Amino acid sequence: MKEIFEKVIKYFFALPSVELATLWPSYLTISAMRILNKIQLTAAHLKAISTIVKEKASCKLLIFGVGYDSIFWSKINKDGVTVFLENNKDWYQAVTDISKDLTVFLINYNTKRSDWKMLLDSPSLLDMTLPNDVEKERWDVILVDGPDGQNDQNTGRMKSIFLSSRLIKNSGDIFVHDCNREVEDIYCNNFLKKENLKTEIKGPMGYLRHYQITNRYT
Ligand SMILES: C[S@@+](CC[C@H](N)C(=O)[O-])C[C@H]1O[C@@H](n2cnc3c(N)ncnc32)[C@H](O)[C@@H]1O
Repeated sequence: MKEIFEKVIKYFFALPSVELATLWPSYLTISAMRILNKIQLTAAHLKAISTIVKEKASCKLLIFGVGYDSIFWSKINKDGVTVFLENNKDWYQAVTDISKDLTVFLINYNTKRSDWKMLLDSPSLLDMTLPNDVEKERWDVILVDGPDGQNDQNTGRMKSIFLSSRLIKNSGDIFVHDCNREVEDIYCNNFLKKENLKTEIKGPMGYLRHYQITNRYT
């Protein structure tokens, strides 16, 4: 019974709530969309990112990690280019089954979070070649909310944070989620630099940092 109820809610309200939040991205519409679609980023996070994406329309938006928010990013940047990078095949399948029109590339980082100190000392190992559609662009806005990085056995965000610093356009905006965690904090300070930090927005499931990169470092 609960499952049927959830399916009805999703069908009648979840997708329309994305359309509404795209057309009118207020705190209220974004909050409703977030709850109905089980998005992890808070409404304040979604609002901060979408404000910059809309300001820079039609922008080139690159996102590390897919999720139930992916369709919103694609729609809010509808006249721009929105590309996602994901490493987890099952999660990729689950998200692309629901949201069919996303441009997602499956990639392999070949890291474990436990390697973070060694990688910081050997930054050449952080680089990797991404699909040509990603490498050929310099991106206006980058969101790093993947890969998973909760524990030492997870992939960790060392490469995604490093790559964001390499792929961003001058004056581009980088958002990194989960900066309350040690590895994200250290990698952001190292590659995105404290002087580029504009804001940090707290949240119960992680802090979001916003950097504006006036000088690319890599
Ligand atoms: C943190 S989630 C993205 C969350 C999304 N931005 C949101 O706010 O809902 C992104 C990363 O988590 C990992 N992941 C794996 N399984 C997952 C699951 N069941 N739910 C969420 N994320 C998962 C994925 O590999 C992905 O790169």
